[in-house]
Amino acid sequence: MNAPLNAVHPQPARTGGKIMLVGLGPGSHDHLTARARAAIAEADTIIGYVTYIRLVADLLEGKEVIKKSMTEELDRAIESLERARQGKKVALISSGDAGVYGMAGPTFEVLFQAGWTPPSGKPDDIEVEVIPGASALNTCAALVGAPLTHDFCAISLSDLLTPWPTIARRLDAVAYADFVVALYNPKSGRRTRQIVEAQRLFLRHRRPDTPVAIVKSAYRPRQRIEFTTLERMAEADIGMLTTVLIGNSNTIVRDGLMVTPRGYSNKYEVADGERATRDGEQAGRSLSTGLNGWLQTIRTSGLDATQLAADYRLPEDYIAALLDETADEYADTLD
Ligand SMILES: C[S@@+](CC[C@H](N)C(=O)[O-])C[C@H]1O[C@@H](n2cnc3c(N)ncnc32)[C@H](O)[C@@H]1O
Repeated sequence: MNAPLNAVHPQPARTGGKIMLVGLGPGSHDHLTARARAAIAEADTIIGYVTYIRLVADLLEGKEVIKKSMTEELDRAIESLERARQGKKVALISSGDAGVYGMAGPTFEVLFQAGWTPPSGKPDDIEVEVIPGASALNTCAALVGAPLTHDFCAISLSDLLTPWPTIARRLDAVAYADFVVALYNPKSGRRTRQIVEAQRLFLRHRRPDTPVAIVKSAYRPRQRIEFTTLERMAEADIGMLTTVLIGNSNTIVRDGLMVTPRGYSNKYEVADGERATRDGEQAGRSLSTGLNGWLQTIRTSGLDATQLAADYRLPEDYIAALLDETADEYADTLD
């Protein structure tokens, strides 16, 4: 019988610890993943913001628990590194997903500054594992229907670490580009004007009746959902534990459900329960207004780049480059 590998090549005892960046999901145990629960069970030390510690208090018996305040993110990361250097397994907990406005970024920044590199087999290597959780945009969307079924993005209105012009530029760009948007950190006791400014920027590009869902404390005891519109959004009851979901120009609210169409009506008509492919469209193929069809349209339109740029709200130099390329390709086909 062969000897086990580790008997032939004994492994040095590991002295390095582990940092597990655990996303707790929205806060109810039903939505805590099995891996997150196992990571907490595996950990000797739990580090987190007091409120997050409270969410999993019943899972922490016998563990060292280090509670930090909201503003002590870097301290939480530094403390985790120190414990891991002592060989401890640390669960650094975040609500939602640790990589979405959570502890994963600051922790890697602290680790890189300290000269950490991913494990390479040395006994004092510190392992890091990011354990995903459902972020507020997933959980809040689930509670209101299906608002994120088309292109969407998240923007945090917190200007504690991000300059307001950066936030405003992003709000303006996504409002113009017709994304569904999840606003994180929309308002706090001190930050009350940001949501008003976000509304102002959105109203420059979007209809006042654009649907908005305000989800407070999703999957927690004080859960509250309110449907409103862009023009009334800032009047809603919004706080620290609220996510604001702003629909795109196709989003509807019906029977208490916010739904963003996936785009099927561009390809199919449904009449009397029968589905028919629209003229000019084919199942499984790009739309007639997809890239190739659209290139054909602009090439044969007889319009110049300036006019096409205005019609399609696209940069003129982009359209001009496409017209040049397509003209070249067209010339090639004549050779
Ligand atoms: C610092 S960010 C943390 C985000 C978290 N890592 C995530 O992935 O959901 C805090 C913001 O997340 C949103 N949020 C977190 N939990 C929420 C919940 N249960 N209900 C609604 N919004 C929530 C709120 O916008 C809140 O201001």
